[in-house]
Amino acid sequence: MNGAAGGVSLLDLEPATSDFLKEAIAGLSSSPPTLPSKFFYDERGSDLFQEICELPEYYVTRTETAILRQHGAEIADSIGENAELVGFGTGAGVKTRRLLDHLQNLIAYVPVDISKQRLTESAEALSREMPALEILPVCADYLQPLELPTPSRKPAHIAVYFPGSTIGNMHPEVARHFLQRVARLCGHSGGLIIGVDLQKSSDVLEAAYNDSADVTAAFNLNMLVRANRELDADFDLSAWRHRAIYNQEAARIEMHLISERDQTVHLADREFPFAAGEKIITEFSYKHTVDGFAALAASAGFQLARVWTDPEKLFAVFHFTTL
Ligand code: AVI
Repeated sequence: MNGAAGGVSLLDLEPATSDFLKEAIAGLSSSPPTLPSKFFYDERGSDLFQEICELPEYYVTRTETAILRQHGAEIADSIGENAELVGFGTGAGVKTRRLLDHLQNLIAYVPVDISKQRLTESAEALSREMPALEILPVCADYLQPLELPTPSRKPAHIAVYFPGSTIGNMHPEVARHFLQRVARLCGHSGGLIIGVDLQKSSDVLEAAYNDSADVTAAFNLNMLVRANRELDADFDLSAWRHRAIYNQEAARIEMHLISERDQTVHLADREFPFAAGEKIITEFSYKHTVDGFAALAASAGFQLARVWTDPEKLFAVFHFTTL
């Protein structure tokens, strides 16, 4: 379905809304119990995530932005002229602007986002700032198969831009399947610009996910607030505590909610008993090495064109291409 978003026309693929109730029951019934991280992002959760991005300990956003600021022209050069840029969850943020500003004869920008409101607002703002650019916003879940709109001019190639290390929230096998779909979406001579958080000392990682202002704790606990509100659950917020640990062997941050005492939680018509110290896993955030991620992408059909990192090698921005 098409709709006008100010000066730009929005393609609404009407993404299916996730079933929080069904997924929460399935997750809490599994061993160990889980609640899927995609449910962090209600309005409050999205605001808290914005706050996380600005925390002194959360180097992720700041470092990726600095790489884009410093190397934006080189990255755009590597992508090449006459591209169609497809942005996954990018909106019109600073990082995207750095690329858009540098791309030579950009044919169209296709931002894809599951939130219609965020997409509409950012597409309208961008269209005011870059009136000559063809912007074709698509409201869709980019984790699912996707068909892109056709720009009025034919691009020489398609480049997908996926910043934020959101790929890190996928198990590597899920990430590989996702990358295979992206490779198919961008077709021959396509490209992928992707931001990936790198392995580093567990002290730095654990500080980033256990910030001193407790914003990440509020973000994690908000999952329970949301379950109480939307699923009529009865989590006692004072009986749960946030913890993030780095699992060195699996190379991932694990976000947990720890039960402070023996307790039983009710959700729908189910009962979920928890012992003191028992955890609910809410998120994995995988950390990669440059070589390891290049190999993962290669197994999905991409070849490495270039990679940019910050001086401390905290974060990497990769440019991969398809044949
Ligand atoms: C969205 N994603 C890349 C964040 C991360 O770092 O894994 C989510 C997050 N969770 C806690 N802090 C930030």
